Amino acid sequence: MTDAKRILILNGPNLNLLGKRAPDVYGTKSFEEYFVKLQATFPHLNLQVFQSNIEGEIVNKIQETQWDGMLLNAAGYSHTSVVIRDAVEAVDTPVVEVHISNVAGRESFRHTSMITPVTVGCVFGFGLKSYEIALHYFQ
Ligand code: DQA
Repeated sequence: MTDAKRILILNGPNLNLLGKRAPDVYGTKSFEEYFVKLQATFPHLNLQVFQSNIEGEIVNKIQETQWDGMLLNAAGYSHTSVVIRDAVEAVDTPVVEVHISNVAGRESFRHTSMITPVTVGCVFGFGLKSYEIALHYFQ
């Protein structure tokens, strides 16, 4: 595991409520449950998870230098946060943006992400499987 790529999954506000929050949109599984499956699917990656409801904590995490890659679901901040965008742009870590829901098919304020232009790419709309699809980039 020492040579394994270190990949951080960084989840933003309200994603700690997965499984309870709007299950018709986000499903019935908690991220903790799903993470066990992800680790089993990518045993050769060193996966770590961090969730925060606080914008500055997300920025601090993005600025850490030890990651070989990052999946970022900034949740509602994706549509509003200049500081998260600036942090992603400022670091060398390749960042893939992830959304669980099909943001393009929801309210218009979810159609724009501040973050997408400074990421490698974005995966959205596949439920929690969006994370798995995105992780293939770092294999
Ligand atoms: C989300 C989509 C956002 O619009 C929303 O605010 C979230 C979750 C998603 O994963 O589908 O909190 O990022």
